[in-house]
Amino acid sequence: MWDQRYSDDEYAYGTEPNAFLYQNAALLTGPVLSLAEGEGRNAVFLASLGLEVLGVDGSEVGLSKALQLAASKSLTIQTTLADLATYEPPEAAFNSVISIFAHLPSVVRAKLYPKVERSLKPGGILLLEAYSKAQLNYNTGGPKDADRLMICTDLEQAFPQCEPLLCQEIEREVVEGKYHTGLASVVQFIARKRS
Ligand SMILES: C[S@@+](CC[C@H](N)C(=O)[O-])C[C@H]1O[C@@H](n2cnc3c(N)ncnc32)[C@H](O)[C@@H]1O
Repeated sequence: MWDQRYSDDEYAYGTEPNAFLYQNAALLTGPVLSLAEGEGRNAVFLASLGLEVLGVDGSEVGLSKALQLAASKSLTIQTTLADLATYEPPEAAFNSVISIFAHLPSVVRAKLYPKVERSLKPGGILLLEAYSKAQLNYNTGGPKDADRLMICTDLEQAFPQCEPLLCQEIEREVVEGKYHTGLASVVQFIARKRS
C-alpha cells in the first residue's frame, strides 16, 4: 500500500517538515532515529540542522525518495528498510527518537515502544505526533481504525522510563501533503529518558 502511495513523483506528505517537529526541533540532538520516516521530509529537515539521522520505514519506494530528497539538498541521511513489527533498534544509541504519524496497530506498538525506549540514551528525547482517537470524527487524514490511533495516557504508559515534558491532545490545522490536510485532532508527546 505504501509503495503504491509513494510511487507518484509528488511527495505524499510534502517535502516540508511536520509542524510539531519544526516547532520543537531545538530540543533534539543527534543521532536521531526517525520511525516510519516515509519519503524523508522530517529526516532531511533534521539533517539540514546538522543532525545525524537514521530513517526507518517499510517502504522501499518511500526511502528511495527520501534519499533523493536529501541528495537534492546536498544533505546526507541514513535509511533502513524494515518492518517496525520486528525492527530491533540498537540499544542506548540515539539522543532523539521521532515518530510522526506512525499509525501502527496496538500489538505492534506494544512490542516496538519498549525497544524504542531502550534505544534512547539517558537524557534522550522522544518526540511523537499522531492522530488521536478523536480523529475518527474528522475526515482530514489518518487511519479509520481506532486501534491505530492514540491518546495521551497510552503514550505515558508505553514509555515508563521517560519523563513526559508535554502530552496533549489538541485540534490543529494540519497542512502536510494531500493526505493530511485540514482541521484534525492530534496527540503530541515529548518525553525525556530518565538518567
Ligand atoms: C502516514 S505515513 C508518515 C510518513 C512520515 N512519518 C511523514 O510524516 O511524512 C506512515 C508511514 O509508516 C510506514 N509504515 C507503516 N507501517 C509500517 C511498518 N509495519 N513498518 C515500517 N514502516 C511502516 C509507511 O511506510 C509510511 O511511510
